[in-house]
Amino acid sequence: MTETAAETPARIVRPTAYGAPGVLAVFEVPVPQPAAGEVVVRVRAAGVNPIDWKLYSGAFHDVEEEHQDSAGVAADELPSLGLECAGVITAAGPEVTGFAPGDEVIVFPATAAYADYVTAPLGSLIRKPAGLGWAEAGALMLAGTTATHVLHAAGAGEGDTVLVHGASGGVGLMTVQLAIARGATVIATAAERNHGRLRGFGATPVTYGPGLPDRVRAAAPGGITAAVDLVGTGEAFETSLELVADRQRIATISGDDRHLAAGIKVLGYGPGQDAGTELRNAARAELAELAGTGALQVVISAVHPLAEAAKAHQSGLDGHAPGKLVLEP
Ligand SMILES: NC(=O)c1ccc[n+]([C@@H]2O[C@H](COP(=O)([O-])OP(=O)(O)OC[C@H]3O[C@@H](n4cnc5c(N)ncnc54)[C@H](OP(=O)(O)O)[C@@H]3O)[C@@H](O)[C@H]2O)c1
Repeated sequence: MTETAAETPARIVRPTAYGAPGVLAVFEVPVPQPAAGEVVVRVRAAGVNPIDWKLYSGAFHDVEEEHQDSAGVAADELPSLGLECAGVITAAGPEVTGFAPGDEVIVFPATAAYADYVTAPLGSLIRKPAGLGWAEAGALMLAGTTATHVLHAAGAGEGDTVLVHGASGGVGLMTVQLAIARGATVIATAAERNHGRLRGFGATPVTYGPGLPDRVRAAAPGGITAAVDLVGTGEAFETSLELVADRQRIATISGDDRHLAAGIKVLGYGPGQDAGTELRNAARAELAELAGTGALQVVISAVHPLAEAAKAHQSGLDGHAPGKLVLEP
């Protein structure tokens, strides 16, 4: 076991309340020590995902009165942030085999990766391909595994014409590339400023907004065989129902009761829905390989210093350039 300097403070970013990005603050904590079967990783890049700001927005949280302090916050229940990162192992606990200090790794799923250091169980480690940059490695897995899962749920592959709603986002650009790699034709909705990027990946872009079904029909005269919804708007929902005959070939990652009632595949929402944990974990090795060779591009929207996590979240909320937001400690 290699010891890290326990006395050296390390930074971690956490919310101090439920609310807007302004509630995020930087705290100093001791460098963590690894338990058995765990390593400590010095974080070089942490991927930012919409779930991060949703977690402390209050959207998921029904705070019971007896747990609230004077600010109306269940202080003991504030979430940690950062579900993915990449970095260098600095210490390994007992019973760790196959990985050692100095190894460059991707951690997914991670806990509290908005930090200088994370502890990670062996099962969450994937070797970082040498040719992959830190930002790209830190932002690959959550979007990549989600894209893999949603394409699987819609049964999208060779010979399909797939409609991808929200194609220029973090998950969208992965979905487009993976669908095309599997032999599908992709019709991709995005703001016009992002169409060039989508064309570059081989998709046919269309602008979302009123008249969407007709624009999709014009772009795909042979019809749409499957649709994946990465935005959850009423427009995406209704357009998919209108254009795809088989509802089991429509999948959404931003679903609600309305999507469930329509009988489409809703990932991560509602009773009986498959969280896809096994499929997502199994996809990590292939995603790393594809990204390492450049066959899958991890498009980086912006890299922010760790201490500017609030700024990164605000840009996510305001609408950001295509691809992934990243924090760099
Ligand atoms: N269930 C799951 O497992 C799971 C996993 C990951 C993410 N998610 C959810 O999926 C959503 C997307 O995640 P992400 O990481 O890709 O977010 P993101 O990077 O912020 O991308 C969102 C994209 O939505 C597009 N958009 C905005 N308004 C739109 C509209 N009216 N119609 C079509 N597209 C529109 C934007 O594209 P333009 O700039 O081109 O407008 C933007 O690129 C989030 O809500 C996230 O929480 C769910």
